[in-house]
Amino acid sequence: SCGRMRICGNKKCDTPSSISPTCKLSRKKIQINQSYGWVRSVRAQKANVFLHVNDGSSLQSLQVVASSELSDPLLTFGSAVEVTGILKKSPHQKQPVELDAKNHKFIVFCFIFFFLRTFPLKSKSDMALSIFANFLISGDNGFVEINTPIITSNDCEGAGELFQVEVIKAPYGENFFSVPAYLTVSGQLHLEVVSGAFSKVYTFGPTFRAENSQSRRHLAEFYMVEAEISFTQSLEDLTKVMEDMFRFATEHVLAHCVEDVDLFHKHVTPGQKLKEYLVSFLRITYREAIDILRRSSERFAFPTDWGCDLKTEHEKYLVKHCGNIPVFVTDYPYDLKPFYARDNQDHPERTAAAVDLLVPGVGELCGGSLREERLNLLSARAGLEDVYSWYLDLRRFGSVPHGGFGLGFERYLQCILGVDNIKDVVPFPRFSHSCLL
Ligand code: 4AD
Repeated sequence: SCGRMRICGNKKCDTPSSISPTCKLSRKKIQINQSYGWVRSVRAQKANVFLHVNDGSSLQSLQVVASSELSDPLLTFGSAVEVTGILKKSPHQKQPVELDAKNHKFIVFCFIFFFLRTFPLKSKSDMALSIFANFLISGDNGFVEINTPIITSNDCEGAGELFQVEVIKAPYGENFFSVPAYLTVSGQLHLEVVSGAFSKVYTFGPTFRAENSQSRRHLAEFYMVEAEISFTQSLEDLTKVMEDMFRFATEHVLAHCVEDVDLFHKHVTPGQKLKEYLVSFLRITYREAIDILRRSSERFAFPTDWGCDLKTEHEKYLVKHCGNIPVFVTDYPYDLKPFYARDNQDHPERTAAAVDLLVPGVGELCGGSLREERLNLLSARAGLEDVYSWYLDLRRFGSVPHGGFGLGFERYLQCILGVDNIKDVVPFPRFSHSCLL
């Protein structure tokens, strides 16, 4: 039938969107079968009621003209309806067809009291999910997909933002795994294990962090694309993969979902031009970033001394300062980065070979680093021997230089759509005091 919105039985019509301006239907009168959907707007005039009905398969709604005798109190924004009628050419340029439902069956199922906070992104996000994978597994790149575990005994980031897994049912109690178990904060450590056999690996899965719920870019449950590359010895190798992956995904979105992106840019972030993000990304060091922040006349809430973590306000300022395009910040102070980051021993200030990719509207989108493969330097990190002895064994029994990164998928959506709050790009956002269903 015509497009995804089930409004006609015309098998010959191959127009991708049932109500697009080029729809062949716009030139014909066709007896439609049925249409189901939710009412997005109602406008009553003397003789007629005008409704916009959307079935969630596309962002476009179908205008339905019904008789005003249809005075159902349940017919309002959010009602679920079944309509039959004749599809007609509309007098309005913007909506080439409308459904004349006068004298036809019109059923109001119910009024929906319950609304999702989110935008209708599911199918688009499925597409974006696969474009990262498509990039990584493609011939030239040749990454192997690994499903890393969701339950783990490790805190990869060492930040203590862990959700503990507990067994409710006796007789296992707390002893099911014999050790404390947590929901994963990152698949990186497991990828590092596998990268000892496959030189390029990636994983895509849910990750969990007990983070600050007030933030506009943190969720307690989010998805991450993580890649690990063996024999890589420079941050440039890593940043090239990150940049190419971002560009590949974004070009795909622009080629296949431009209508949706435009809609967001029209109503949510007027003036945003995604194409402008496809230039060569800038590269600055953390030292340069600090110098830029300190020279600026902006009054930041958080300090900008060398050794301080870059906060969202700093990251957003840096992106703007660099021309509102993606920026890599490299070589962070050693103590700011997790235990696995490689020591830049040749630098005058003690730094780690770590990189964050900052993007417009969001700040940090990717975090990556070369991994410390030298046993003596890794074991010098306090307390590592007790908790991560298996990780040290990876070095003890032979390790090659390697590195990797993680990209937060919801933050990518936030960036390309220009959505201010990350909670608006997922249907069931998880954050503190919010896990009702
Ligand atoms: O910088 P992060 O913490 O890096 C890691 O987890 C590494 N182990 C990844 C790796 O090298 N394999 O997180 C990576 C990205 C961030 O840049 C951000 O986009 C996203 O994950 N992220 C979050 N997204 C939403 N909510 C949160 N609470 C997030 N925490 C991190």
